[in-house]
Amino acid sequence: MNRIAIFFAIAALVVSNGVFAADPIVIKFSHVVAPDTPKGKAAQKFKELAERYTQGRVRVEVYPNSQLYKDREEMEALQLGAVQMLAPSLSKFGPLGVRDFEVFDLPYIFPNKEVLYRVMDGDIGKKLFAKLGAKDIVGLAYWDNGFKQMSANKPLRKVEDFRGLKMRIQSSKVLEAQMRALGASPQVMAFSEVYTALQQGVVDGTENPVSNFYTQKMNEVQKYMTISDHGYLGYAVIANKRFWDGLPQDIRTELEQAMRETTVYERDIAQKENDQALAKVRAAGTTEIYVLPLKDRLAWQKVLLPVHKEFEEAIGKDLIYAIYNVAAQVEKEKAGKK
Ligand code: LMR
Repeated sequence: MNRIAIFFAIAALVVSNGVFAADPIVIKFSHVVAPDTPKGKAAQKFKELAERYTQGRVRVEVYPNSQLYKDREEMEALQLGAVQMLAPSLSKFGPLGVRDFEVFDLPYIFPNKEVLYRVMDGDIGKKLFAKLGAKDIVGLAYWDNGFKQMSANKPLRKVEDFRGLKMRIQSSKVLEAQMRALGASPQVMAFSEVYTALQQGVVDGTENPVSNFYTQKMNEVQKYMTISDHGYLGYAVIANKRFWDGLPQDIRTELEQAMRETTVYERDIAQKENDQALAKVRAAGTTEIYVLPLKDRLAWQKVLLPVHKEFEEAIGKDLIYAIYNVAAQVEKEKAGKK
């Protein structure tokens, strides 16, 4: 072998052994729901797109089902940099000291998804994300799940049916007030503990979109579900700010593109996943499904709407009214089209 051939042989060996190949940037993306939910599928989609667009310079490791951390722990882990990305529900930002996000929990605040998306994608959504900077967090996108339904081991038709029931909620003061307004006793609990708590009777009932209900097998431990659409559950996809700001510019641009596309995908599948989950709950035959008729819905609203007023100070009257204005605007546009 001449010298040149030896040089190339050594070079090939070195490269194939990965000596020159830089280690990929690892993003640990932790979440608490099943892989086959809107959030679970979207996390996987983001992994695929992020790895493809960065040509392997980034590796995304998705940890579903509270495998790494439960609700509260995952927020701490993100701030400490033990994980780089999360997508907690919007109800879980209160304990962080950013109470404004609880506006999404107000019962019946979003008449439809159109209003919701306008809020998320407009000034309101941007202003909320800006508040996360002080917590060392950057907001990347808002993901959807859907409207929540109530469940228990007794039928929940009239407001009186809630009296005395222990209802599991996420860590949100608004949700606490919502359950109290119904006459129930709210119990804050991590998502990963809900199935066992229902099974053992530690709590009597809960609320969640059907996709979460079905994928956690709650239909095995809840005999009744009321399709009430009384509140909303969605997510903020967030990253550790130091990590995100420290990424090379070209990589961050690719990741932003991956996130934009994932968000379109996520919002597209969210409703379908919930519809399919409802069909599966029906097929399983273990939970009786009751669709709340309009007259009872109005009775629920009468009891629940005062919660908006109660939270004007804690959340901000301006913020609540800004959402009412978006809803009025959407309504006006719809009327104009008729
Ligand atoms: C819950 O705790 O009920 C939800 O936030 C779970 C989730 O992330 O969808």
